[in-house]
Amino acid sequence: GTVLVNNMEIKGTVREPNPTISLSLLNNADYWVILDPVNQRLYLNSTGRVLDRDPPLSIHSIVVQVKCTNINVGTVIHHEVRILVKDRNDNSPRFQQSQYYVAVNELTPVGTTIFTGFSGNNGAKDIDDGPNGQIEYAIQYNPSDPTSNLSFDIPLTLSGAVVLRRRLNYEDKTRYFVIVQANDRAPNPNDRRTSTATLTVDVLDGDDLGPVFLPCVIVNNTRDCHPLTYTASIPELTDPVSTYILGFC
Ligand SMILES: *[C@@H]1O[C@H](CO)[C@@H](O)[C@H](O)[C@H]1NC(C)=O
Ligand SMILES: *[C@@H]1O[C@H](CO)[C@@H](O)[C@H](O)[C@H]1NC(C)=O
Ligand SMILES: *[C@@H]1O[C@H](CO)[C@@H](O)[C@H](O)[C@H]1NC(C)=O
Repeated sequence: GTVLVNNMEIKGTVREPNPTISLSLLNNADYWVILDPVNQRLYLNSTGRVLDRDPPLSIHSIVVQVKCTNINVGTVIHHEVRILVKDRNDNSPRFQQSQYYVAVNELTPVGTTIFTGFSGNNGAKDIDDGPNGQIEYAIQYNPSDPTSNLSFDIPLTLSGAVVLRRRLNYEDKTRYFVIVQANDRAPNPNDRRTSTATLTVDVLDGDDLGPVFLPCVIVNNTRDCHPLTYTASIPELTDPVSTYILGFC
């Protein structure tokens, strides 16, 4: 029922009692267009269906011919009407997987790209056209893993490559749940649509700790132990065979 063309302004009238022309539609594929000859108006016929520019329908334009016959002379003129279907941002990005996974050594330097799994067709896709279908990635705050957005970053939002932002420490934390949001780039930010997926990052143990003499008293703000002195006392004249120091057992 949407008006496509309000008045085609073809000379003549189909109105009784003195019609000068007759109008009809030709090549009206799938009956998308309805003609109201009296008002020379064209309507959209979307009864029981939706006009969709996106796959699988992918209707980018509708072309019909309006056949105009001059009743007095019998001449026929074909007017072509071409209706362009514009994209509307009616689809959200969709991740190909809801879960992604990567394992990272705890000794990985800050600034290293640790995950590129959203590249190609493996990340999110959006079937809308143009900016409405382009994807940007960002890391969201995860309330159930509050340090995940501090430890990882996506500096290049279009590529979605995940970069290490802060040193990892296997001895402190062995797994992160990073929430990655994909949004499209609709020109008006209020129209942008989003979806999220979780990237699980497992921290692998690296050989970063030397052996430690116990008991270890940590030096404040470091991972080092205070230097230890072990002492033992032995009475003089002790039999050398029957005595040994138990300190390192
Ligand atoms: C509208 O389209 C439907 C097909 O979906 C068709 O069956 C119907 O005849 C059309 N109506 C008009 C008035 O052309
Ligand atoms: C992580 O998320 C919190 C909460 O939204 C926010 O305050 C903080 O700035 C974020 N950190 C980074 C590095 O984006
Ligand atoms: C180490 O920190 C504790 C409290 O966390 C404090 O009581 C102590 O004085 C600090 N020691 C040094 C050497 O700063």
